[in-house]
Amino acid sequence: MVKPNLKVKIGGLELKNPVTVASGTFGSGEEYKKLVDLNKLGAIVTKSVTLKPREGNPPPRVVETPSGMLNSIGLQNDGIDAFIKDKIPFLNKVKTAVIVSIAAHRIEDYAAIARKLDKIKGVDAIEINISCPNVKGGLEFAREPDSAAAVVRAVRAVSKKPLITKLSPNVKDITEIAMAAEEAGSDAVSLVNTFTGMAIDIGAKRPILGNIVGGLSGPAIKPIALRMVWETAKKVKIPVIGMGGIMDHEDALEFIIAGASAIQVGTANFVNPGAAVEIIGGIERYMRQEKIKNIKELTGCLKT
Ligand code: FUM
Repeated sequence: MVKPNLKVKIGGLELKNPVTVASGTFGSGEEYKKLVDLNKLGAIVTKSVTLKPREGNPPPRVVETPSGMLNSIGLQNDGIDAFIKDKIPFLNKVKTAVIVSIAAHRIEDYAAIARKLDKIKGVDAIEINISCPNVKGGLEFAREPDSAAAVVRAVRAVSKKPLITKLSPNVKDITEIAMAAEEAGSDAVSLVNTFTGMAIDIGAKRPILGNIVGGLSGPAIKPIALRMVWETAKKVKIPVIGMGGIMDHEDALEFIIAGASAIQVGTANFVNPGAAVEIIGGIERYMRQEKIKNIKELTGCLKT
């Protein structure tokens, strides 16, 4: 059988395969360059960048939980100007798509960051993170269709890059938010970000995380994330990028069959930096076994 075609399109952006790494779990790629062949990835999604530098939340910032982890980093980053100066030169050398995640508290700040990125060659798309649960107001824009749409419209007005809106599962109906983002001009939606949660040290009778609460990710959330991706893919015409506890190629295939055009590998990167590359190989093997020539045949092929 000829090599299966794994190429997928996200708006105007073509990815060589549907396997990307999730924001906040892979730095800006450089940290992983000795461990992983970055050129094999469908895309690198960078850690969310804000307009000004942020120190992040007090430690501890990460705690392992049954089948998952809580993080509360607090969007630590050096700000957009330092990102462009320090990270873009490396990212320009990697032969894979670069998706820059952006976060803000104010709509005008989202627009200001996007405007700066619009001029940068080598930034292939922008992921608008409206769903960080770890900073005050971090997911306010994700909660209601109108506020999500307002952010997307403001970014759309200043950027020609493909836009992906990253949605929160901590909402009443994620499909309504996805439809609002689509209507406002988003080229794709990515879901889900983490679920708000907490862990307590019963000896100290204190929260373990410095920020008290954090975002739960990993296999523990996979069935819920999968259900949300399936529901969302039925409601929007734009591509859905699925994530939430994907550890291996079988998990990835579940998301694709549920309706995801591409997937993001997150928590698995902390366990096995090579997870995303292994997942690409696993998808390709599955396609050969099943005699599937094009990954698009699999997207949303769920029989119900
Ligand atoms: O705390 C953090 O930096 C996490 C961000 C996110 O989940 O979007």
